[in-house]
Amino acid sequence: MPASALRANHLRCEYLVTPLGIDECAPRLSWTIESNRRGARQVAYRVLVASTSARLTAGNGDFWDSGRVESNQTTHIVYGGRSLRSRDVCHWHVQVWDETGKTARSKPSVWTMGLLKKSDWRARWIAADREIIQRDEDAIAPTLTESGTPAHFRREFKIAGTVKRATLYASARGLFELRLNGRRVGEDIFAPEWTDYDKRVHYRTYDVTRLVFPGNNVIGAILGDGWWSGYVGWQETRGPYGSLENGLLVQIEIELAKGKRLTLGTDKTWTCNTGPILSSDFMMGEFYDARRESRGWDKPSGKSEIRNPKSEIEQSLLTPAAGSPFWLPACEVTAPRAPLVAQRSEPVRVTETIAPVSMNQIHPGVFIYDLGQNITGWVRLRVKAPRGTRVQLRHAERLNPDGTLYTENLRRAKATDVYLCKGGGTEVWEPHFTFHGFQYVELTGLLSKPGKDAVTGCVVRSATAPAGCFGCSHAGVNRLWLNGLWSQRDNFLSVPTDCPQRDERLGWMGDAQVFLRTASYNMDVAAFFTKWLQDVEDAQTADGIFPDTAPRLREGKNFVGLDGLGGAAGWADAGIIVPWTIWRVYGDKRIIERHWPAMTKWLDWIERYNPDGLRTRELGNNYGDWLCIPSDTTFRTHSPMKNLLATAYWADDAAKMVRMAREIGQQTDAKRFEAMFKKVSAAFQKEFVREAGRVTVETQTAYLLALAFNLLPENMRARAAEHLVENIKALDWHLSTGFIGVSLLNPQLTLAGHADVAYRLLLRDDYPSWLYPVKHGATTIWERWNGWTKGNGFFNPQMNSFNHYSLGSVGEWLFRHVAGIELDPDAPGFQRFVLRPFISSGLNFARASYRTMHGEIVSHWKRSGKKLTWNICIPANTTARVSVPSEPGTKVTESGMPVERAKELRIVGREGRFLICEAGSGIYTFGSNWQD
Ligand code: BGC
Repeated sequence: MPASALRANHLRCEYLVTPLGIDECAPRLSWTIESNRRGARQVAYRVLVASTSARLTAGNGDFWDSGRVESNQTTHIVYGGRSLRSRDVCHWHVQVWDETGKTARSKPSVWTMGLLKKSDWRARWIAADREIIQRDEDAIAPTLTESGTPAHFRREFKIAGTVKRATLYASARGLFELRLNGRRVGEDIFAPEWTDYDKRVHYRTYDVTRLVFPGNNVIGAILGDGWWSGYVGWQETRGPYGSLENGLLVQIEIELAKGKRLTLGTDKTWTCNTGPILSSDFMMGEFYDARRESRGWDKPSGKSEIRNPKSEIEQSLLTPAAGSPFWLPACEVTAPRAPLVAQRSEPVRVTETIAPVSMNQIHPGVFIYDLGQNITGWVRLRVKAPRGTRVQLRHAERLNPDGTLYTENLRRAKATDVYLCKGGGTEVWEPHFTFHGFQYVELTGLLSKPGKDAVTGCVVRSATAPAGCFGCSHAGVNRLWLNGLWSQRDNFLSVPTDCPQRDERLGWMGDAQVFLRTASYNMDVAAFFTKWLQDVEDAQTADGIFPDTAPRLREGKNFVGLDGLGGAAGWADAGIIVPWTIWRVYGDKRIIERHWPAMTKWLDWIERYNPDGLRTRELGNNYGDWLCIPSDTTFRTHSPMKNLLATAYWADDAAKMVRMAREIGQQTDAKRFEAMFKKVSAAFQKEFVREAGRVTVETQTAYLLALAFNLLPENMRARAAEHLVENIKALDWHLSTGFIGVSLLNPQLTLAGHADVAYRLLLRDDYPSWLYPVKHGATTIWERWNGWTKGNGFFNPQMNSFNHYSLGSVGEWLFRHVAGIELDPDAPGFQRFVLRPFISSGLNFARASYRTMHGEIVSHWKRSGKKLTWNICIPANTTARVSVPSEPGTKVTESGMPVERAKELRIVGREGRFLICEAGSGIYTFGSNWQD
């Protein structure tokens, strides 16, 4: 881009690029400014929103013309035009001006409104005729006792005229996969996504203009169980949300060129049947009989649909190979009581595919494939085998020493897919309503040796956009960062889950909050967490207790439930930490406003039960510093540590509330929470702090909490940090933190002046350490430090996941302190930020890029001998406080010149080994001296 150019780019609405069918009536618009010129700033903008693209091009913002607004704001601009209505198509662009008077107009973008009123829905909820499903379930019962048989639905319809626009809205109790005239509608998987279905059910909107044609058309739908009625968590029975059957709701609206509108919705004119998927469940896997495929079921037949009286159904089901052509009318069923809401986050998709790195025959006919990467998703199978061949795929994260699959840690999740071949050529198949967490696949059932290409790994996740990238001179650290990224990919599936493989896969709140900063550096998770925070709030009790996992599950028969679980320190507190972090990272004030009542209710509840300021009364669990070392014995059950942890979190909740209250102008609340913080921190000090910065519970996490949450008198902080270092030293420079402490460990050591200790912990690779799993081949973050150890092999399989991101929260530190890309303590959203890397002799270079709401920040330092070179990029329309690592008294240069001469750089002072500058946007290269 030429140095003088100015661009407005990356237009988004409610964090999403061209979202369809939103139901936010005051959506927020954002863009980025791009320019290569140092110091480039936006001084004004003008947003136009128009009902057609022609109007927009003509400069006619009939929905909204913001007029020229003098402002440098480019994010969260609240739409201020005429009220938005169902189905509105909103074409928009933005014009910007920089401080030199130059102006630029963005390319046009668009968002559409969904169905905002209940009465917009003409479609009815339908379900399959029980008889059809039951027959199939009975027929296959001996093989598959546990999962539901997905129903197929179909409806033929005619379009008389040319289609101008066709939009499809769909929801389900269960999961839908939609087809139009033989083609898949959208790329979404597992829609609608997981919510507490008693509180809200998502619908999705698709533009299907290109999938429908004048003449006969067919819409088809397959309906699976998913979170609604399959196995969720460790429950013993299916269906955590009650007794209602799976249901489908689809509405297609077609606008013809001549202006006529057609609406077609699900109702009893739709027909239903079963198909080749005999059972499918998240935990158990899928059973697919390709001989039952009925080609063209989702295409126009030209014949009447209900060709057979009921009596003939039996026959069709007894001859599955025929692929039953017999369709019965669908039944209309009760609509859910909960409102239908538009999904507001990135859908789940197959985002990448992975070819195996090896294939091994371990016994005759038993082939083990290694993907070289622990993933979440499934296998795309490619086989050529005689009709009726039963190919079985089992999945595991690790292998036993004898080369067989290690599946004990999956607990009740069977994670087994079965495919019965139809024969007659190469067959390619992927399952529909299941997913597994695995690196290894066992393939059996083929008579001849399969090729390596029989198996391809399909990675399935919420399709959040990549944000950051980290690399340095240490291969192990790079793999560690990548392992965190993979665990994020593998676990951000509709909600932030703990693990993707065993019978759990729940939205554990503690895990999510400790990893959130890391997650936000890795990917743009704003929309994802905005959605999940609604699940969190939906799960809050009337008393104000936040849950330990969200979405909430409903207690049922035989369900070892989570319904009563809530209020755990460090877990339930995510109800405050997550909005706080989304505000800090993305500058999102609305998230605070929307969840303010819920957050205040939570703190009121804690205070009601703990009036003296010590949080010793908990409801349900206190997991303490979960999976710390020595784990599972002392500290998990050690109540002083738990009380300390709980009280510390309470104090920090209150401190965060003070800042957030001020941000949204709730001054009275700010005062109240300030008093609360004072009371709780005083109680903390009285109970847990002794002279000279000693904390009564001698654990690393106890010190970390006291330091991180500002619970020590100022004059004790340095001593407390020394005690922390002594503790680490006493363990021969090893960490001992669990989920809670680990995210604070290296950041707090660094901020307290012990970056050398942080690096020392980072770079060691003996047990327990971050690099120990890496050294032993980990491709994701393990749930526990001792998931596998050299002497003892696998830990107890009852709780031994190899894909839990919590202990990977050190990713935050890699970005914040190694690369030095840090939030400004006083300014949310990275429009103003801090660059301050901590250099260590352990690394020769470190490089990170991070895409913020305002564009990409880059920091890249490298050492050669005593010379340090540091390249940084500060996006247009942002500024940074830049701390240049440099020996006091030596020369610092910028692009070869004395730093003082650099334009757009103002030196404001020195703090020890940092020269502090204020910098405008631009690319800078510093040179300085550095020695360890
Ligand atoms: C989950 C964790 C979770 C924990 C609560 C476990 O079963 O896998 O990740 O945070 O329970 O202590």
